[in-house]
Amino acid sequence: MAQLAVVGAGYVGLVTAACLSEFGHQVTCIEVDEGKLRRLLAGDLPIHEPGLSDLVSKHTLDARLQFIGEYTGIDDAEFVFIAVPTPSSKDGSADTSYVMQAVETLIPHARPGSVIVIKSTVPIGTADKIAGLASVLAAGIAVVSNPEFLRQGTAVHDFMAPDRVVIGASSPHEAARVAHLYASLEAPIVAVDRRSAELAKYAANALLATRISFMNEISRIASAVHADVDDVARIVGMDRRIGPAFLKAGLGWGGSCFPKDVLALCSVAATNGCRTPILEAVYETNELQREHAAELLLDAVRTIQDPVVAILGLAFKPNTDDVRGSPALSIAQRLLKEGVIVRAHDPFALVNAGRALPEVECRADAYSTLDGADALLLATEWEEYGALDWMLVRETMRGKTILDGRNALNGELLGELGFRYWSFGRATTNGNGLVPKVHANGVAPEVDANGARPGVQEAGV
Ligand code: UGA
Repeated sequence: MAQLAVVGAGYVGLVTAACLSEFGHQVTCIEVDEGKLRRLLAGDLPIHEPGLSDLVSKHTLDARLQFIGEYTGIDDAEFVFIAVPTPSSKDGSADTSYVMQAVETLIPHARPGSVIVIKSTVPIGTADKIAGLASVLAAGIAVVSNPEFLRQGTAVHDFMAPDRVVIGASSPHEAARVAHLYASLEAPIVAVDRRSAELAKYAANALLATRISFMNEISRIASAVHADVDDVARIVGMDRRIGPAFLKAGLGWGGSCFPKDVLALCSVAATNGCRTPILEAVYETNELQREHAAELLLDAVRTIQDPVVAILGLAFKPNTDDVRGSPALSIAQRLLKEGVIVRAHDPFALVNAGRALPEVECRADAYSTLDGADALLLATEWEEYGALDWMLVRETMRGKTILDGRNALNGELLGELGFRYWSFGRATTNGNGLVPKVHANGVAPEVDANGARPGVQEAGV
């Protein structure tokens, strides 16, 4: 088992440190933010990530994992993982200053012959640049790229059961040293050069974002031609060459990674003389989804005095308290600008959302958020929203418009309850003369003489 250090206790650093200690390694995690470090030392995790808290307490107790605020504690580490942020600069490029600063600070304390492992998502060529620093060469320190593919909300599981472990190294010997750390995993280990590992990380995120934006474009076409995007996605995803993941239409992608990484890849490409029409369209399509949602909500409440829009879900996706890049917040911002009162609820992200957008009235439960609202936007598909008592909601809300930003609610039921249900390209509750949906048992649901089901409202918009 190896002595490791992890620089940075954010999502990636904390998960990496906890999981590597679960593999049996001795891990020291450095966090220079005093407030964050204090919380970690008190056993209070600064982020909500399923399974993480248990792992951290288990390994702080058995002393395999410790948190410190100084680089001085890393002199016996054979491997130093860098897991600090690389935020977007104003021009869209990734800002690597935290990475470079971490490297420069750690070098005087690093053990000669040790390995710096870059976990942060960095522009292609960054690991080569670090490997070429005079101080790194002088200390005989190797530099390896080891990108992460963790999803927030399932990060611990993703670390423990990855699809692959990617190691970008300049020699098979260096790759083997890092590969050894993951020996307890069954996943394939892919050893490549450093630049290919760095580009693979960006390409993976950009391709996932592309699939979503593509399906969102299809959802607009589905609405226009009265088709059902969910059915289309299901059929397309059944093709084994395509697969079903990341084809869900809705408000589009957010988070701290996709927006930043798509822009950073465009920037790296431009710096190297390459055009990126696909990536630019992927980004723009994502922005359009948010604008479209805001316009729909504004249309729904335009004639109302002091209109109230309730937003359910503020995190950029379920099972996280992260609101970075969240579609809910940009839509809320737009509505506020137009004079709409915005109320919101989220099971975990209220504190972060309150900090990011204090003008939104955050409520502690979904029903009080919906009380007196003229329209509802479901922005994050938390499980609890699927289980709401919609009869009660109907009594509570002033208006009847529901915009299902994640195509997650039972539109048919909501239509029957008298709501005006809008989705992103769903046509299941149509009253527009299409052939009615056939149930799994092959029987079509009851329809009236016009081919519509009674009480059912329009769906895809
Ligand atoms: C993403 C990648 O999935 C990870 O592999 C990667 O490691 C991570 O970025 C990173 O670079 O750190 P994450 O940002 O946690 O992970 O979130 P995802 O689960 O990928 O979801 C991103 C966004 O896409 C969310 O807003 C989600 O609601 C949206 N989404 C996802 C859709 O709109 N439709 C889908 O079908 C899937």
